[in-house]
Amino acid sequence: MSKYLITGGAGFIGSHLAESLVGRGHSVRILDNFSTGRKENLSAVSGRVEILEGDIRDRDAVRTAVAGMDFVLHQAALVSVTQSVENPEETLAVNVAGTLNVMQAAREARIRKVVLASSCAVYGAGPIPAREEQSTMPLSPYAASKLAGESFALSYYSSYQLPCVCLRYFNVFGPRQDFHSPYSGVIAIFIARAVAGKPVTIYGDGRQTRDFIYVGDVVRANILACESDRADGRVLNIGSGRGRSLLELRSELEALCGVRMKLERSAPRTGDIRHSRCSPARARALLGFSPQTDFRAGLDATVRWQRDGSELKTP
Ligand code: UD1
Repeated sequence: MSKYLITGGAGFIGSHLAESLVGRGHSVRILDNFSTGRKENLSAVSGRVEILEGDIRDRDAVRTAVAGMDFVLHQAALVSVTQSVENPEETLAVNVAGTLNVMQAAREARIRKVVLASSCAVYGAGPIPAREEQSTMPLSPYAASKLAGESFALSYYSSYQLPCVCLRYFNVFGPRQDFHSPYSGVIAIFIARAVAGKPVTIYGDGRQTRDFIYVGDVVRANILACESDRADGRVLNIGSGRGRSLLELRSELEALCGVRMKLERSAPRTGDIRHSRCSPARARALLGFSPQTDFRAGLDATVRWQRDGSELKTP
């Protein structure tokens, strides 16, 4: 049994990590400022995780949270590209300075390993499928912040031998992904609109593609990264290896929900990338990781959660 700190543990991905680790008998502490995280996300592990309310920008809060842990899964971040374009300073403070606080506290506390949530946004308009060794090309302050976070983590590995793994998540979806905000992920928003019988807005022509990966697979990748040392000091793509356009996504959802989804068009978003798809080879070679959840099954679970499981229903 190990002790895990999950920053952002009340959020979408963090709460799935908490549930899985508790289920495996580990001890879990969560640091969350509840800006987007929600207590309800942790209802399945209520009373079985330690919850600290605090912000990763607060060095003392981070130090307290990290003390006594074996592993840190650093998920806390501002996740919206658009929000980063509107307010780059806040993205810098949370995603970069916050990550540095986590690395420094982990170094001081002699943590066994930090696993960092990074993003495929770092590839920008680079070649497809994206490989870890290719040049990065951040197109938004968000992408730049994730790349800077990776760089700090890797520098702590080189300078202080603090083991770390940077997981470049592609587009993660699944139950508990917030669907109320215009900054939410596209699948969460589209499902909410489909369920409510409302039109969806497509920014651009809808032919942009994303590599969608189910949250349960992302959880497995994090656990593998802790259990093996083969990926220490490396960045790894965590995606499905398959690109899907927004128009394909809409057709899948129409079939699944048995509805017609009206489209409203809007201009492409600033900072948006056109195509995204990973080469999953490195994660497979180093961690034996490959996604197990079929796209349709993941969508189905997400639709069911939005229909039945969520307390806040109105999009
Ligand atoms: C998402 C994540 C980001 C992650 C990245 C990895 C969110 C909010 N952002 O960014 O944290 O690092 O994946 O690739 O989860 N779109 C519409 N209509 C909508 C909403 C979105 O057309 O109502 C379009 C966007 O313009 C974009 C695509 O759908 O072209 C995906 O958008 P979004 O889900 O916000 O994800 P990313 O920007 O790829």
